Amino acid sequence: MSSLKGRDLLSIADLTPEEMRTVLDLASDLKKGEKKFNSNKTLGLLFYKASTRTRVSFSVAMYQLGGNVIDLNPSRTQVGRGEPLEDTARVLDRYLDILAIRTFAQEDIETFADYSDIPIINALTDLEHPCQILADLQTIEESFGCLEGLTLTYLGDGNNVAHSLLLGGVLMGMNVRIASPEGYLPDENIVKQAQALAKKPEQVIVTQSAKEAAENAHVLYTDVWASMGQEEETAQRIPIFQPYQINQELVNLADDSAIILHCLPAYREKEITAEVMEGRQSRIWDEAENRMHAQKALMACLLGLG
Ligand code: CP
Ligand code: NVA
Repeated sequence: MSSLKGRDLLSIADLTPEEMRTVLDLASDLKKGEKKFNSNKTLGLLFYKASTRTRVSFSVAMYQLGGNVIDLNPSRTQVGRGEPLEDTARVLDRYLDILAIRTFAQEDIETFADYSDIPIINALTDLEHPCQILADLQTIEESFGCLEGLTLTYLGDGNNVAHSLLLGGVLMGMNVRIASPEGYLPDENIVKQAQALAKKPEQVIVTQSAKEAAENAHVLYTDVWASMGQEEETAQRIPIFQPYQINQELVNLADDSAIILHCLPAYREKEITAEVMEGRQSRIWDEAENRMHAQKALMACLLGLG
């Protein structure tokens, strides 16, 4: 655990497989109540975008670690009035022990990390959503008892969640398939990074065929078709993404043991049907719960608790 002390988590690929294993094992122990911490640390939350799960799960996790949380709402702090990030970062560094940021540009969290010594956590950018993927991997491991060798298929927009799933899944030895329509495929640099991390070329598949990607998969995963900041494109995207909807027909192509995940919030009858969301293969609510356990473990590691 000590190797993570003082580090940032800006991308899921900031973790080695061994470090990811440490976080996932601790998350599992915390969930079972086999481990407890009693710290007096302060977490700052600087969120430029809406959030239910990330905000609440980080807050409760820090309270359960014995610490405190300060909500640095940009509309009520000087960053919202244009104070440079470099200045804000250096000042917050003097007050807080750890800071989770949700924003648009990955470069902005990199600036925070450059100008402060406390751990900076990416609580979602346009490029990545690493904390989500920690919880996803925990959920998959709870269902299958392992990660390596499993096939995870993500269907929909090649967005932040797709990027972190691709990197995180491959790091842990999974086969990751991303099925997206033309023009919405994942970022080429992220795909290249995942290919470089993969032990075998077949671990990374990017395709436009939802059906091929779903065949014999162990996990079917989707996310909203228009992310925060893309709301104006919502209507025009619906017909483009329709073939990528997770519905019972697609689930039938996957492995019999397959589980269904969605990071939430979900739009029923758009990226996923209500039938599948509420069906026996859905692990969506466990996945949401695991945000809290995984982030508690992450913060304990970055703060060097224990
Ligand atoms: N999945 C997720 O990050 O949810 P919130 O936007 O509600 O935090
Ligand atoms: N891709 C979505 C994830 C929300 C948790 C977004 O960025 O809005």
